[in-house]
Amino acid sequence: MEDTASVVVRPAVLTDAAGIARAHVESWRTTYRGIVPDGFLDGMDPERQQARWQRLLDHRDTTVWVAERSGVIVGHASGGPQRGGAFPGWPGEVYSIYLTRAAQGFGTGARLWRHTTESLRHAGLMPFVVWVLTQNPTVRFYEHMGGQRLAERPVAIGGVDLPEAAYGFIDAR
Ligand SMILES: CC(C)(COP(=O)(O)OP(=O)(O)OC[C@H]1O[C@@H](n2cnc3c(N)ncnc32)[C@H](O)[C@@H]1OP(=O)(O)O)[C@@H](O)C(=O)NCCC(=O)NCCS
Repeated sequence: MEDTASVVVRPAVLTDAAGIARAHVESWRTTYRGIVPDGFLDGMDPERQQARWQRLLDHRDTTVWVAERSGVIVGHASGGPQRGGAFPGWPGEVYSIYLTRAAQGFGTGARLWRHTTESLRHAGLMPFVVWVLTQNPTVRFYEHMGGQRLAERPVAIGGVDLPEAAYGFIDAR
C-alpha cells in the first residue's frame, strides 16, 4: 500500500523541469497507449519535453504544482489563462494533470487539482476549462470533480484526428 503522507505536493521551481518531463512522458505512454499512435508515444523525447517545461516554468502566468515522493517527481498539474479563447467568460484553464501509473489512485491527483484550481482562483481565473481526449477514462475524474461538458472538437496527434472534449468548472471541488 502507498504511504500517501509521504507524497509532497508543492509549487514547482525551475530545477523541476527534468523531473516533470520524465514523469509526464511516462504518464503519456501508459495513459494513451491504444489511443494515440505508438509511433508518437515512443518518439516522445524527455529532453525535448524538459526544454518545453523550462520555458513554461519561466512563464509567470502559468502555475505549476508537482507531486514528489522521496525526492522523485511523480506528477504535476498546470494551469493559467484560457488558451485559444474559444469560451468567453471562462478566463482560466487547467492545462495538464499527470501522475505516473504507480502514483495514481491514492488521492494525489485530488491534491494537485485542489492546489492548481486554488491558484487559478487567486489569479482571478475562475471559472475555468479543461480539455481531455474523450477516450481517456480521466473524463470520469473531471466529471467527479464537478465538470460539465461544454464542447467537442477534433485534435491532431501523431497524424490522426482524435476527439477531445472541453469540461467547464464553475466551482471546482
Ligand atoms: C487523473 C489523475 C491525475 C487523477 O489522480 P489520482 O491520484 O489517480 O486520483 P485520486 O486518487 O486523487 O482520486 C480523486 C477522486 O477522483 C476519483 N477518480 C480518479 N480517477 C478516476 C477515474 N478515472 N474514473 C472515475 N473516478 C476517478 C477517485 O475515485 C477519487 O474519488 P473520491 O473523491 O470519492 O475519493 C491520474 O489518475 C492520472 O494521472 N491519470 C492519467 C493522466 C491523465 O489522464 N491526465 C489527464 C489528461 S487530460
